[in-house]
Amino acid sequence: MSREEKVVCVTGASGYIAAWLVKLLLQRGYTVKATVRDTNDPKKTEHLFSLDGAKERLQLFKADLLEEGSFDSAVDECQGVFHTASPVILTASDPQSQLIDPAVKGTLNVLRSCAKVPSIKRVIVTSSMASVMYNKKPLTPDVVIDETWFSDPVACEELKQWYMLAKTLAEEAAWTSAKENGIDLVTINPGFVIGPLIQPTLTSSIEAFLQIIHEVKMTSLCNHYTRYPKTRPKVWVLASFLWKRVLGTLLKASRRMASSLSELCY
Ligand SMILES: NC(=O)c1ccc[n+]([C@@H]2O[C@H](COP(=O)([O-])OP(=O)(O)OC[C@H]3O[C@@H](n4cnc5c(N)ncnc54)[C@H](OP(=O)(O)O)[C@@H]3O)[C@@H](O)[C@H]2O)c1
Repeated sequence: MSREEKVVCVTGASGYIAAWLVKLLLQRGYTVKATVRDTNDPKKTEHLFSLDGAKERLQLFKADLLEEGSFDSAVDECQGVFHTASPVILTASDPQSQLIDPAVKGTLNVLRSCAKVPSIKRVIVTSSMASVMYNKKPLTPDVVIDETWFSDPVACEELKQWYMLAKTLAEEAAWTSAKENGIDLVTINPGFVIGPLIQPTLTSSIEAFLQIIHEVKMTSLCNHYTRYPKTRPKVWVLASFLWKRVLGTLLKASRRMASSLSELCY
Protein backbone atom coordinates (compact mmCIF):
# COMPACT_ATOMS: atom_id res chain seq x y z
CA MET A 1 0.00 0.00 0.00
CA SER A 2 1.43 3.38 -0.96
CA ARG A 3 1.38 6.24 1.55
CA GLU A 4 -1.18 8.15 -0.53
CA GLU A 5 -3.58 5.21 -0.90
CA LYS A 6 -6.82 5.62 1.09
CA VAL A 7 -8.09 2.19 2.11
CA VAL A 8 -11.43 1.44 3.72
CA CYS A 9 -13.40 -1.71 4.50
CA VAL A 10 -17.14 -2.17 3.89
CA THR A 11 -18.70 -5.22 5.58
CA GLY A 12 -21.75 -6.94 4.05
CA ALA A 13 -20.99 -5.54 0.60
CA SER A 14 -23.63 -7.72 -1.05
CA GLY A 15 -26.27 -5.70 0.81
CA TYR A 16 -28.35 -2.86 -0.52
CA ILE A 17 -26.83 0.02 1.49
CA ALA A 18 -23.30 -1.37 1.28
CA ALA A 19 -23.41 -1.55 -2.53
CA TRP A 20 -24.07 2.22 -2.55
CA LEU A 21 -21.26 2.77 -0.10
CA VAL A 22 -18.83 0.76 -2.22
CA LYS A 23 -19.90 2.66 -5.35
CA LEU A 24 -19.49 6.09 -3.73
CA LEU A 25 -16.21 5.23 -2.03
CA LEU A 26 -14.74 3.96 -5.32
CA GLN A 27 -15.96 7.12 -7.02
CA ARG A 28 -14.06 9.15 -4.43
CA GLY A 29 -10.80 7.30 -5.09
CA TYR A 30 -10.75 4.94 -2.12
CA THR A 31 -9.42 1.40 -2.30
CA VAL A 32 -12.29 -0.69 -0.93
CA LYS A 33 -11.86 -4.00 0.89
CA ALA A 34 -15.39 -5.40 0.77
CA THR A 35 -16.64 -8.43 2.66
CA VAL A 36 -19.30 -10.89 1.50
CA ARG A 37 -20.34 -14.24 2.93
CA ASP A 38 -19.96 -16.09 -0.35
CA THR A 39 -17.28 -14.78 -2.72
CA ASN A 40 -18.21 -17.48 -5.28
CA ASP A 41 -21.81 -16.32 -5.73
CA PRO A 42 -21.92 -14.05 -8.81
CA LYS A 43 -25.29 -12.61 -7.71
CA LYS A 44 -23.57 -11.21 -4.63
CA THR A 45 -20.40 -9.98 -6.31
CA GLU A 46 -20.71 -9.28 -10.07
CA HIS A 47 -22.50 -5.95 -9.63
CA LEU A 48 -19.69 -4.80 -7.34
CA PHE A 49 -17.00 -5.65 -9.88
CA SER A 50 -18.87 -3.74 -12.59
CA LEU A 51 -18.70 -0.48 -10.60
CA ASP A 52 -16.40 2.28 -11.86
CA GLY A 53 -12.95 1.88 -10.34
CA ALA A 54 -13.65 -1.67 -9.11
CA LYS A 55 -11.14 -3.40 -11.37
CA GLU A 56 -8.35 -1.26 -10.00
CA ARG A 57 -9.43 -0.67 -6.41
CA LEU A 58 -11.99 -3.24 -5.18
CA GLN A 59 -10.84 -6.29 -3.21
CA LEU A 60 -13.30 -8.92 -2.05
CA PHE A 61 -12.97 -10.89 1.20
CA LYS A 62 -15.02 -13.77 2.56
CA ALA A 63 -16.29 -13.07 6.08
CA ASP A 64 -19.09 -14.27 8.32
CA LEU A 65 -20.38 -12.33 11.30
CA LEU A 66 -20.47 -15.42 13.48
CA GLU A 67 -16.88 -16.52 12.82
CA GLU A 68 -14.38 -15.04 15.21
CA GLY A 69 -11.47 -13.36 13.43
CA SER A 70 -13.33 -13.56 10.13
CA PHE A 71 -12.81 -9.85 9.41
CA ASP A 72 -9.11 -9.69 10.34
CA SER A 73 -7.72 -9.64 6.82
CA ALA A 74 -10.46 -7.36 5.47
CA VAL A 75 -9.78 -4.56 7.98
CA ASP A 76 -6.00 -4.94 7.92
CA GLU A 77 -4.22 -1.77 6.71
CA CYS A 78 -7.50 0.16 6.50
CA GLN A 79 -7.98 3.74 7.65
CA GLY A 80 -11.74 3.47 7.98
CA VAL A 81 -14.28 0.65 8.39
CA PHE A 82 -17.97 0.83 7.47
CA HIS A 83 -19.76 -1.99 9.27
CA THR A 84 -23.13 -2.56 7.58
CA ALA A 85 -23.46 -6.39 7.64
CA SER A 86 -26.38 -7.42 9.79
CA PRO A 87 -29.51 -9.46 9.13
CA VAL A 88 -32.57 -7.35 8.26
CA ILE A 89 -35.41 -9.72 9.11
CA LEU A 90 -38.60 -8.26 10.46
CA THR A 91 -40.34 -11.53 11.31
CA ALA A 92 -37.92 -14.11 12.68
CA SER A 93 -38.91 -17.58 13.88
CA ASP A 94 -35.72 -17.92 15.95
CA PRO A 95 -34.74 -14.35 16.90
CA GLN A 96 -31.65 -15.35 18.87
CA SER A 97 -29.90 -17.22 16.07
CA GLN A 98 -31.34 -15.33 13.10
CA LEU A 99 -31.02 -11.79 14.42
CA ILE A 100 -29.47 -11.20 17.82
CA ASP A 101 -26.34 -13.37 17.56
CA PRO A 102 -25.25 -12.17 14.12
CA ALA A 103 -26.00 -8.53 14.97
CA VAL A 104 -24.32 -8.46 18.39
CA LYS A 105 -21.56 -11.07 18.07
CA GLY A 106 -20.91 -9.85 14.52
CA THR A 107 -20.45 -6.24 15.61
CA LEU A 108 -18.12 -7.33 18.41
CA ASN A 109 -16.16 -9.51 15.98
CA VAL A 110 -15.68 -6.64 13.57
CA LEU A 111 -14.65 -4.24 16.34
CA ARG A 112 -12.21 -6.78 17.81
CA SER A 113 -10.60 -7.14 14.40
CA CYS A 114 -10.42 -3.33 14.14
CA ALA A 115 -8.80 -3.05 17.56
CA LYS A 116 -5.79 -4.98 16.23
CA VAL A 117 -5.15 -2.49 13.42
CA PRO A 118 -3.42 0.76 14.41
CA SER A 119 -4.00 2.41 11.02
CA ILE A 120 -7.79 2.49 11.54
CA LYS A 121 -8.85 6.04 12.35
CA ARG A 122 -12.61 5.56 12.52
CA VAL A 123 -15.25 2.83 12.50
CA ILE A 124 -18.74 3.65 11.26
CA VAL A 125 -21.51 1.27 12.29
CA THR A 126 -24.84 1.34 10.47
CA SER A 127 -27.19 1.11 13.38
CA SER A 128 -30.86 2.03 12.93
CA MET A 129 -33.76 4.11 14.13
CA ALA A 130 -34.74 0.74 15.62
CA SER A 131 -32.09 1.26 18.30
CA VAL A 132 -33.25 4.80 19.04
CA MET A 133 -37.01 5.10 19.25
CA TYR A 134 -38.37 2.03 21.11
CA ASN A 135 -38.28 3.23 24.70
CA LYS A 136 -41.93 3.84 25.56
CA LYS A 137 -41.50 7.63 25.41
CA PRO A 138 -44.51 9.21 23.76
CA LEU A 139 -44.01 9.55 20.02
CA THR A 140 -46.23 12.28 18.73
CA PRO A 141 -45.61 14.13 15.43
CA ASP A 142 -44.04 17.11 17.25
CA VAL A 143 -41.39 14.95 18.98
CA VAL A 144 -37.85 15.22 17.60
CA ILE A 145 -35.80 12.08 18.11
CA ASP A 146 -32.13 12.87 18.47
CA GLU A 147 -28.83 11.22 19.36
CA THR A 148 -29.61 11.23 23.08
CA TRP A 149 -32.34 8.63 22.56
CA PHE A 150 -31.77 4.89 22.93
CA SER A 151 -34.26 2.07 22.62
CA ASP A 152 -34.91 0.08 25.75
CA PRO A 153 -34.07 -3.63 25.30
CA VAL A 154 -36.72 -4.60 27.86
CA ALA A 155 -39.40 -2.67 25.96
CA CYS A 156 -38.28 -4.26 22.66
CA GLU A 157 -38.50 -7.71 24.23
CA GLU A 158 -41.94 -7.03 25.72
CA LEU A 159 -43.16 -5.87 22.32
CA LYS A 160 -41.48 -8.88 20.65
CA GLN A 161 -39.67 -6.45 18.34
CA TRP A 162 -36.72 -8.73 17.66
CA TYR A 163 -35.06 -6.69 14.92
CA MET A 164 -35.28 -3.63 17.18
CA LEU A 165 -33.82 -5.61 20.06
CA ALA A 166 -30.96 -6.96 17.94
CA LYS A 167 -30.04 -3.51 16.60
CA THR A 168 -30.28 -1.95 20.08
CA LEU A 169 -28.05 -4.59 21.69
CA ALA A 170 -25.63 -4.41 18.77
CA GLU A 171 -25.25 -0.66 19.07
CA GLU A 172 -24.86 -0.91 22.83
CA ALA A 173 -22.15 -3.55 22.35
CA ALA A 174 -20.45 -1.37 19.75
CA TRP A 175 -20.19 1.61 22.12
CA THR A 176 -18.89 -0.56 24.98
CA SER A 177 -16.30 -2.29 22.81
CA ALA A 178 -15.18 0.97 21.19
CA LYS A 179 -14.65 2.51 24.62
CA GLU A 180 -12.71 -0.52 25.87
CA ASN A 181 -10.51 -0.64 22.80
CA GLY A 182 -10.03 3.10 22.22
CA ILE A 183 -11.81 3.01 18.86
CA ASP A 184 -13.21 6.22 17.35
CA LEU A 185 -16.77 5.10 16.62
CA VAL A 186 -19.61 6.76 14.75
CA THR A 187 -23.01 5.15 14.60
CA ILE A 188 -25.61 6.17 12.09
CA ASN A 189 -29.29 5.56 12.72
CA PRO A 190 -31.28 5.65 9.49
CA GLY A 191 -35.02 5.13 9.16
CA PHE A 192 -36.13 3.40 5.97
CA VAL A 193 -33.50 3.65 3.27
CA ILE A 194 -34.95 3.05 -0.13
CA GLY A 195 -34.08 4.06 -3.68
CA PRO A 196 -32.47 2.62 -6.81
CA LEU A 197 -30.93 -0.83 -6.35
CA ILE A 198 -27.40 -1.65 -7.44
CA GLN A 199 -27.53 -5.34 -6.57
CA PRO A 200 -29.41 -7.65 -8.98
CA THR A 201 -31.29 -9.62 -6.34
CA LEU A 202 -33.75 -8.86 -3.59
CA THR A 203 -31.82 -8.72 -0.34
CA SER A 204 -33.77 -9.34 2.85
CA SER A 205 -34.24 -5.63 3.59
CA ILE A 206 -35.58 -4.91 0.11
CA GLU A 207 -37.91 -7.89 0.35
CA ALA A 208 -39.28 -6.47 3.61
CA PHE A 209 -39.89 -3.09 1.98
CA LEU A 210 -41.61 -4.66 -1.00
CA GLN A 211 -44.01 -6.38 1.35
CA ILE A 212 -44.83 -3.01 2.84
CA ILE A 213 -45.20 -1.32 -0.54
CA HIS A 214 -47.54 -4.03 -1.78
CA GLU A 215 -49.24 -4.05 1.61
CA VAL A 216 -49.37 -7.81 1.29
CA LYS A 217 -48.11 -8.14 4.80
CA MET A 218 -48.30 -5.21 7.19
CA THR A 219 -45.32 -5.98 9.37
CA SER A 220 -45.09 -4.93 12.96
CA LEU A 221 -42.60 -2.27 11.89
CA CYS A 222 -45.10 -0.80 9.49
CA ASN A 223 -47.85 -0.99 12.07
CA HIS A 224 -45.66 1.06 14.32
CA TYR A 225 -45.55 3.86 11.79
CA THR A 226 -49.28 3.80 11.26
CA ARG A 227 -49.47 5.57 14.62
CA TYR A 228 -47.93 8.63 12.92
CA PRO A 229 -50.03 9.24 9.85
CA LYS A 230 -48.42 12.63 9.30
CA THR A 231 -44.86 11.32 9.12
CA ARG A 232 -45.33 7.86 7.70
CA PRO A 233 -45.20 8.75 4.00
CA LYS A 234 -42.06 10.76 4.64
CA VAL A 235 -39.84 8.00 5.97
CA TRP A 236 -38.92 6.81 2.47
CA VAL A 237 -35.40 7.88 1.71
CA LEU A 238 -33.56 7.89 -1.59
CA ALA A 239 -30.29 6.12 -0.97
CA SER A 240 -28.53 7.98 -3.73
CA PHE A 241 -29.10 11.28 -1.92
CA LEU A 242 -28.82 10.03 1.64
CA TRP A 243 -25.51 8.32 1.27
CA LYS A 244 -23.84 11.13 -0.64
CA ARG A 245 -24.63 13.50 2.18
CA VAL A 246 -23.97 11.02 4.94
CA LEU A 247 -20.63 9.84 3.57
CA GLY A 248 -19.18 13.32 3.85
CA THR A 249 -20.59 13.85 7.31
CA LEU A 250 -19.41 10.49 8.58
CA LEU A 251 -15.85 11.17 7.64
CA LYS A 252 -15.95 14.33 9.78
CA ALA A 253 -18.35 13.46 12.59
CA SER A 254 -17.41 12.00 15.92
CA ARG A 255 -20.68 11.24 17.61
CA ARG A 256 -23.77 9.13 17.38
CA MET A 257 -25.86 10.36 14.50
CA ALA A 258 -29.53 9.92 15.15
CA SER A 259 -31.62 11.21 12.30
CA SER A 260 -35.09 12.41 13.07
CA LEU A 261 -37.67 11.21 10.61
CA SER A 262 -37.98 14.70 9.20
CA GLU A 263 -34.21 15.02 8.69
CA LEU A 264 -34.31 11.90 6.56
CA CYS A 265 -36.88 13.27 4.16
CA TYR A 266 -35.81 14.42 0.73
N1 LIG B 1 -32.41 -0.64 4.65
C1 LIG B 1 -32.84 0.16 5.61
O1 LIG B 1 -33.84 0.86 5.47
C2 LIG B 1 -32.10 0.22 6.90
C3 LIG B 1 -32.55 1.14 7.86
C4 LIG B 1 -31.84 1.26 9.05
C5 LIG B 1 -30.71 0.51 9.27
N2 LIG B 1 -30.32 -0.40 8.33
C6 LIG B 1 -29.11 -1.18 8.62
O2 LIG B 1 -28.19 -1.05 7.54
C7 LIG B 1 -27.46 -2.24 7.35
C8 LIG B 1 -27.59 -2.74 5.92
O3 LIG B 1 -28.98 -2.90 5.60
P1 LIG B 1 -29.45 -3.24 4.13
O4 LIG B 1 -30.76 -2.61 3.93
O5 LIG B 1 -28.38 -2.95 3.15
O6 LIG B 1 -29.67 -4.81 4.28
P2 LIG B 1 -29.51 -5.99 3.24
O7 LIG B 1 -29.57 -5.50 1.86
O8 LIG B 1 -30.45 -7.06 3.66
O9 LIG B 1 -28.01 -6.47 3.52
C9 LIG B 1 -27.65 -7.09 4.71
C10 LIG B 1 -26.21 -7.55 4.58
O10 LIG B 1 -25.82 -8.21 5.78
C11 LIG B 1 -25.17 -9.42 5.42
N3 LIG B 1 -25.28 -10.45 6.44
C12 LIG B 1 -26.39 -10.91 7.06
N4 LIG B 1 -26.05 -11.90 7.91
C13 LIG B 1 -24.70 -12.06 7.80
C14 LIG B 1 -23.74 -12.92 8.41
N5 LIG B 1 -24.08 -13.87 9.31
N6 LIG B 1 -22.43 -12.79 8.06
C15 LIG B 1 -22.03 -11.86 7.16
N7 LIG B 1 -22.90 -11.03 6.53
C16 LIG B 1 -24.20 -11.14 6.87
C17 LIG B 1 -25.88 -9.87 4.16
O11 LIG B 1 -25.08 -10.81 3.50
P3 LIG B 1 -25.71 -11.92 2.50
O12 LIG B 1 -25.90 -11.19 1.19
O13 LIG B 1 -24.69 -12.97 2.41
O14 LIG B 1 -27.01 -12.34 3.12
C18 LIG B 1 -26.01 -8.54 3.44
O15 LIG B 1 -24.81 -8.22 2.78
C19 LIG B 1 -27.99 -3.22 8.40
O16 LIG B 1 -27.15 -3.14 9.51
C20 LIG B 1 -29.37 -2.68 8.73
O17 LIG B 1 -29.79 -3.04 10.02
C21 LIG B 1 -31.00 -0.56 7.16
